[in-house]
Amino acid sequence: MEEKQILCVGLVVLDIINVVEKYPEEDSDSRCLSQRWQRGGNASNSCTVLSLLGSPCAFMGSLAPGHIADFLVADFGRRGVDVSQVAWQSGGDTPCSCCMISGSNGSRTIVLYDTNLPDVTAQDFEKVDLTRYKWIHIEGRNAAEQVKMLQRVDQYNKARPPELQIRTSVEVEKPRDELYQLFGYGDVVFVSKDVAKHMGFQSAAETLKGLYGRVRKGAVLVCAWAEQGADALGPDGQLLHSDAFPPPRVVDTLGAGDTFNASFIFSLSQVGVHAHPSRKKRAGGPGLRLSSGRQEVWAAGLRWHRVMAPNGCRPNLSGRNNSLRSLRDGHSHANGLNSHEGGGYCSPTPTSAPGCLHYSVPQIK
Ligand code: FRU
Repeated sequence: MEEKQILCVGLVVLDIINVVEKYPEEDSDSRCLSQRWQRGGNASNSCTVLSLLGSPCAFMGSLAPGHIADFLVADFGRRGVDVSQVAWQSGGDTPCSCCMISGSNGSRTIVLYDTNLPDVTAQDFEKVDLTRYKWIHIEGRNAAEQVKMLQRVDQYNKARPPELQIRTSVEVEKPRDELYQLFGYGDVVFVSKDVAKHMGFQSAAETLKGLYGRVRKGAVLVCAWAEQGADALGPDGQLLHSDAFPPPRVVDTLGAGDTFNASFIFSLSQVGVHAHPSRKKRAGGPGLRLSSGRQEVWAAGLRWHRVMAPNGCRPNLSGRNNSLRSLRDGHSHANGLNSHEGGGYCSPTPTSAPGCLHYSVPQIK
């Protein structure tokens, strides 16, 4: 039987990326250092990372036929991401983002055109053969429809033994009221610093304590807070924290959150998170404790993933200074997951790849 996939539902977009020395003045006319097209969108980026980490994965989102969609589909293909669940729309434009990446501090400024392409609906999702997936991740967008999708997965799970159930995660990244209904769904809920701040929280820990009441029984709530690392709270009430591991040189931050989410999902999909009450017993306890008895592997530092050159990796930074892109250029971290080197992981084998993904693996007792 084929290995089950992780399905990510959400946005794919063309990112037109301008790398600039520093963020330009309004109404100025300047040259950028480099420019490129890149496949973007949270769910799409997370698929890239999952695939590079070695997990079979699929993307579900909308596209409008045309040159841009051809570019995006070809890039999914290059990364081994299954696009059979793409909803091809007959009206609307494929979304496009203009992104400025500042070479001076790594900041990313995004202006997204994403206004007239219909999102995938619960009806589209009805056609999905759920037996193919072990995990379904939903990037919060058309939340009312997405709730129906998650309810469908819950129904599916009810009729199956724990080992055949699909685990789910949702991302609440944008501060939009409509999205907050998603807090009540998913085994894992990612809430962004943006949303947290918008709600008046000052730290990840405060956010988790303030919002945990909104997640469903047994779920794990996760909040990454840039250089302050990331926290998670599960049903056992234990607040887990991982520091971030800032690399010596910040390259850029585009897709950092998507990378964090993907690596978190990947890690838990490998070793098992058993947030759902019905899985508690098998897991030997609630929360993030592992059935295998191994320590949790979670990647808070991925919020700070950057191209860097630690411990025997030989990055070639020239002209390839995007973190996701460095992943895409062939540096798989599947091996890195098993080789611990100091405060983070990197591939044990120096490669011609441009860089290493650096992330933290807290030793949680
Ligand atoms: C990064 C990203 C970009 C995209 C934008 C959409 O997280 O997914 O690739 O342009 O956010 O909001």
